Formats: sequence, structure tokens, C-alpha cells
Amino acid sequence: MAAAIHKIYTMAKIKMTTPLVEMDGDEMTRILWQMIKDDLILPFVDLKTEYYDLGLVKRDETRDQITVDAAEATKKYGVAVKCATITPNLKRMDEYKLHEMWKSPNGTIRSILDGTVFRTPITIPSIHPVVKNWDEPITIARHAYGDVYKSVEIRANEPGVAKLVFDGENGQHEEVVIHNFKGAGVIQGMHNLDKSIRSFAHSCFKFAIDTKKSLWFSTKDTISKKYDAQFRIIFEEVFEEYKAKFEELGIEYFYTLIDDAVARVIRSKGGFIWACKNYDGDVMSDMVSTAFGSLAMMTSVLVSPDGKYEFEAAHGTVTRHYYKYMEDHQMTSTNPMATIFAWSGALRKRGEMDGIKELVNFADQLEGACFDTLNEGICTKDLAGLMEGITPKSVNSDVFIKEIRTRLEKRLA
Ligand SMILES: NC(=O)c1ccc[n+]([C@@H]2O[C@H](COP(=O)([O-])OP(=O)(O)OC[C@H]3O[C@@H](n4cnc5c(N)ncnc54)[C@H](O)[C@@H]3O)[C@@H](O)[C@H]2O)c1
Repeated sequence: MAAAIHKIYTMAKIKMTTPLVEMDGDEMTRILWQMIKDDLILPFVDLKTEYYDLGLVKRDETRDQITVDAAEATKKYGVAVKCATITPNLKRMDEYKLHEMWKSPNGTIRSILDGTVFRTPITIPSIHPVVKNWDEPITIARHAYGDVYKSVEIRANEPGVAKLVFDGENGQHEEVVIHNFKGAGVIQGMHNLDKSIRSFAHSCFKFAIDTKKSLWFSTKDTISKKYDAQFRIIFEEVFEEYKAKFEELGIEYFYTLIDDAVARVIRSKGGFIWACKNYDGDVMSDMVSTAFGSLAMMTSVLVSPDGKYEFEAAHGTVTRHYYKYMEDHQMTSTNPMATIFAWSGALRKRGEMDGIKELVNFADQLEGACFDTLNEGICTKDLAGLMEGITPKSVNSDVFIKEIRTRLEKRLA
């Protein structure tokens, strides 16, 4: 082993040409962040980053300007890697003595980049999805604007008429009766925007090409003949721009009804991207991540319609582990996999964009070393109970990362 380590230390580090936008975060994931950099990246890569501390302390100090700056930097450079961050609530206001209840950084970044979030599970042979025919991961893309999440509602307490009215600035006037209430009931009005749907479509087709996976999209346009149909129409229009590339890669764009999609997804082998409207995506992403095993093994990529990328883990800052770590100063067994994959994803993308083959290879080897470690049964506590056909040996995060390092060195030697 000593020889392998020596060899690595004398090997030239991989050079980067464009900085990666690095967004640091909070709690246990902030601790893991530093460990991952120190042990798995810095010894091998001459890391170039533009660093933004999105930890809650700094966000409060800068009145959240740092989040906006980090998002703008992502627009400028094209690739970012983000650590999980606290979204403040009342408890956090008190804990961190905040000036304001700052908005979710992910929400701020997503709206500045106008992006779509793609969540994909990291799968290994010893953890079987609940759906036994799922051989490959399923990626969920959720449209994160409008519909029921930006709806307005009325509780009708008495009989009366509910109407939907549109008064256009240039004269369009439409009025339809929603319902003639004979008694009490409920009413809801929601909307979406062609611009937002179009951005969603561009991000989905771009990500499908990037990952060389087919794209499924589902709505309920047989019932919702204007609203949901508009989603289908826009996707069809936008697809024209990507059709040739899809054919070249041998992937397909497939539209179907949401109920048919659910049935097909359950019977499928996996290995595709499923684009969902806001509510469907909310529900289905939880179903898919639970069925694949663990939130700690879920990656997340934000893709803007003009091809900017932000990589992160789908989970939060793992507060419970952090409090324990602060209490007894003992390293916890927190799973760093999704955070490592955020780094490998971002480095790979940077390498692809800048034509640095060594960086792309490094990202592949880093992921490979993670799989080597898990396939030998070495894992964090959360995975030990899920593994089958192998005797798991659960270790703390620091040991787990060191085990990955050993295997990474072997692969790169
Ligand atoms: N993308 C983000 O930045 C993001 C996402 C979700 C939550 N958060 C923030 O994270 C904080 C904690 O939120 P939460 O507890 O709801 O979510 P969480 O994802 O941190 O934890 C949820 C549960 O999953 C387990 N878990 C998650 N990741 C794990 C890992 N890597 N290893 C082992 N176990 C893991 C935890 O033990 C916990 O029981 C909150 O302040 C919240 O605002 C941030």
C-alpha cells in the first residue's frame, strides 16, 4: 500500500482551466464536505474553485447576498457543486439569532437559474429496490413552478356561482362558470406559464442527451384539455430542436398519460428520466427514492434551460448527527455518498466542458472507488440494514472515506 501512496504523491495533480463554483453549507454535511475535499479531491486535483460560503452564519451576515452571488457565478462559469444548507424556520431563527428568516438557498438558486431538478438514486448490487424488476436507476425531473403550489383558494360557505375570469390587457375577455353551488364547497384557481414550461422542456431534453437516457413525460391531457395539453404541446414543439440528437444517440422521447406512466414505470426495468408536472413530481420523487432504498444515496442536479449545472446531494444537513457530533466530538456514521457524487458529477461536467479527459477519468475513478468500497460490504450505518447477500461492516464517515481513498489510489496508480 505504501508504494501505491508514494506513487500518487509523486504523480502530477490534474490541472483545471475554469473554476468550479463551490457552495459550502451547514452542519454534518459541512463537516463531510471538508473531509471529502481533503481526502478524495485535493491530493489528486489541482482544484480551482470560486468559493461561496452558503453556511447560515455567512448568509445572515451578508443578508443572503452570498446566495445570489453564488447563483450568478454559476451562470457565469456553468458548473457548481453545492453542500446541503439549512432552510431557516422559527427554531433556527432563535438558534442562529438570525436577522431574518432567509429563504431556502435552493429556491433562490433555482429561480435565478430558472432550472429543473433531476434526482437519481445511486444503486449498488447488494441493495435491491422494493420493485424487483428495477435494474437501473429512474431519474425524476420535477417541474418546480406553479400549479397547486401557487394556487388561490376560496371556501364557499353558501350556495352561489363560482366563475373563472380572464381580463387580458389587449381585450381578451373570457369567463366560464366553474360550478353552480347548491351548498357549501371549495374552489381553487391555479396557473402556469408557457415560458416556465418551455424552460422545463429544454432542461429535460438537455439532461436526457447528457445522460444518454430516454425521456418520459406524462400529464392528464385527456381530462385537462387546455391546461395539461399545453404542457404536451410545448414539449412536442421543443423536442423538434433535439430530435436529431436523440436519434443519433438512440434514445427516445415518450409522452403518455400519467396513469399509464405509473403502470409502465412499475413494470419497467428503469434506466430512464421521468419528467413530471409539479405535484406528480413531488409525490413520485418520494416514492421512487423510498423504493430505491435510501435518501442518503440520492443525487440531485439542477439544470438550467441554457445548460448550466449545479450538483448536490438530495438530502439535508443531517442535523441529528451534527448535534451528536458536537456533543461528544465522535465522528458519526453519516453517509457521504451523495455528496461525493455531487463532487464527481461537477468535476466530470467541468472536464467535459473544458475538454480535460483526466478530470473526467478522475470523476469516473472516484465513483468507481466508492462502488468498490460498498461492494466489499464497507458502508455507513444507514446502509448496513439494507444490504443483502453480503456481510456489511458499518464504519464511521471518516473510516469510510479513508477506505474509498485507498481504493481510489489503487485505481489511479
Ligand atoms: N438541499 C438542501 O440543502 C436541503 C434539503 C433538505 C433539507 N435541508 C435542511 O437540512 C436540515 C435537516 O433536515 P431534515 O432532517 O428534514 O433532512 P435530512 O435529509 O438532513 O435528514 C432526514 C433523515 O434522513 C437521514 N439522512 C439523511 N441524509 C443522510 C446521510 N447522508 N447519512 C445518514 N442518514 C441520512 C437522517 O438521519 C434523517 O433521519 C434542515 O435544516 C433542512 O432545512 C436542506
